[in-house]
Amino acid sequence: MALTLTRPDDFHLHLRDGDVLADLVPPVAERFSRALVMPNLTPPVTTVAAAGEYRERILAATPAGVDFTPLMTLYLTETMAASEIKKATASDFIHAAKLYPAGATTNSSAGVRDVGAITHLFEAMQDAGLVLAIHGELANPSLDPYEREPRFVDEVLAPLVERFASLRIVLEHVSTQHAVDFVTQAGPNVAATITAHHLLCSRRALFAGGLSPHHYCRPILQTEADREALIAAATSGNPKFFLGSDSAPHPRDKKESGHAAAGIYTGYAALELYAQAFAEAGALGRLENFASRFGADFYGLEPNSAEVTLEETSWQPPAEYPLGQQTVVPLGAGESLRYRLRP
Ligand code: NCD
Ligand code: ZN
Repeated sequence: MALTLTRPDDFHLHLRDGDVLADLVPPVAERFSRALVMPNLTPPVTTVAAAGEYRERILAATPAGVDFTPLMTLYLTETMAASEIKKATASDFIHAAKLYPAGATTNSSAGVRDVGAITHLFEAMQDAGLVLAIHGELANPSLDPYEREPRFVDEVLAPLVERFASLRIVLEHVSTQHAVDFVTQAGPNVAATITAHHLLCSRRALFAGGLSPHHYCRPILQTEADREALIAAATSGNPKFFLGSDSAPHPRDKKESGHAAAGIYTGYAALELYAQAFAEAGALGRLENFASRFGADFYGLEPNSAEVTLEETSWQPPAEYPLGQQTVVPLGAGESLRYRLRP
């Protein structure tokens, strides 16, 4: 059986920078029409000028003849001026600004320690209509890692939504029932992305057959009940929930280390991985809206017109993919995937 759908968009993606772009951009551009590219480089992308240059490097790594548009983001800091938000909105390539609580995840040390310190930026974004994308975890090291998202939702997100009632907010990579419930009951200005790995795996995967650093990401994989809540949300037809892969490759030696880096690589076959999760839930018919429609609607973008086709055929991803001079281990290495992109 083959499944044809409108070319999808990925509303949360890490492409990194430098020579690895040549490895990371092509498989994404083959599957997705657009991708919202995260700004957590070193140094982070904190200016419109830097985002524009980064965009050029991504386009230079896009295979000729492939229709792919990178949607750029700004990394919010406590020292950013509101004028940068105005500049971002006036550009035609910046589509969101990203809030990283300082210390919450990879390359977040330049992020925000106190959201009270960037009220001027939230106001500017609300006025200008720029989307706020949020990494929704408290970063306090004394907190239980499994509590970071629920506590962020209650202590930071809920008051923010209340105070900035018309700010468009995307809670990125929701991982818990609690976050799903919050987004569901909030107004239409609050939405969420869901990753393929949070749909396919619970925290069991972290411990299956020995501790697996390749299943370690932020927010961390949660319980089976949480995973089921994410499946229910993704397949519900509720337009608040849409595709954001959070494909976040790290070199093999940074993962297989005493302190594994957080991030799971799915970009080599992200659409196939989502199709697998939807098929397992008996909801393949709901994939197209989740992958190709709801995100574009929320971001105020035209829907895509081209199509992609997935074939139902079992295949095994390689044990690793090239990542510049190094390699990255993909989610699904050593397993069978059920769908394959028709070239
Ligand atoms: C991401 C990365 O590696 O950049 N890591 C992750 O675990 N998801 C950052 C992020 O989105 O949190
Ligand atoms: Zn991410």
